[in-house]
Amino acid sequence: MDGNGRWAKRRGKTRVWGHIRGAGRIKSVVREASDLGIRALTLFAFSTENWSRPDAELTVLWKLLKKFLIRELEALDREGVRLVILGEMDRLAPDVRGVVESAVKRLSGNSGMCLSFAVSYGSRREIVHAAKQFADDCVRGVRKADELVEAKGEALFQSYLWTSVLGDAADTDLVIRTSGERRVSNFLLWQSAYAEYYFTETCWPDFDAECFRKAVREYGARERRFGMVDSTERVAGDSQA
Ligand code: FPP
Repeated sequence: MDGNGRWAKRRGKTRVWGHIRGAGRIKSVVREASDLGIRALTLFAFSTENWSRPDAELTVLWKLLKKFLIRELEALDREGVRLVILGEMDRLAPDVRGVVESAVKRLSGNSGMCLSFAVSYGSRREIVHAAKQFADDCVRGVRKADELVEAKGEALFQSYLWTSVLGDAADTDLVIRTSGERRVSNFLLWQSAYAEYYFTETCWPDFDAECFRKAVREYGARERRFGMVDSTERVAGDSQA
């Protein structure tokens, strides 16, 4: 959800104002995604690097997260949305963690779209964390290092990532980056191995349901080959066939 600060600055307002307006966009995008039948939507809310922002900004961000979850809980439940958090939950303040955990619990039985908030999230951190958990299991004798290079090794490693809670929707199909930036910024690196990227100049506070639909439409028109070739294409000339 990038570009809140720049969006606010252009309007002579504070960064915090941008976050408030940005938080106001979440609801409509979540509803649109759910209505389109998307199985998992992950919103990058707070990166591991964001901890170094000024305290006043951090305070507002945590308030906004709590407010969103408290205000929208009923509606999310009605829509059948399941909620998960990807990231370092143990770094969250007890009050934030309390609200987050109770929302996750309340929506845990739902079978509709899975909404994830990446909070205190960094993809490298996630991968390193998974490697440590796997190593710990090897030391305990539950796993063997060789399993990683066997046929199902990648799936096994994936089961140690935070996104394993997303089940078979853990592989990212589409990454939308708002605000004109063209970077990956440590977001779902493993999961996005074959993802399509969509970049838009629109800053997050202006990114509405129609913007989301446009991104999904463009994604739908792309050809995804996963490193293979189009089966209808002629690969070699007649003489070689
Ligand atoms: C990046 O914009 C955005 C963030 C660091 C925070 C995003 C958070 C919200 C929209 C609201 C709170 C979260 C929830 C889940 C309700 P930026 O500040 O880096 O913008 P800039 O690049 O223009 O400075």
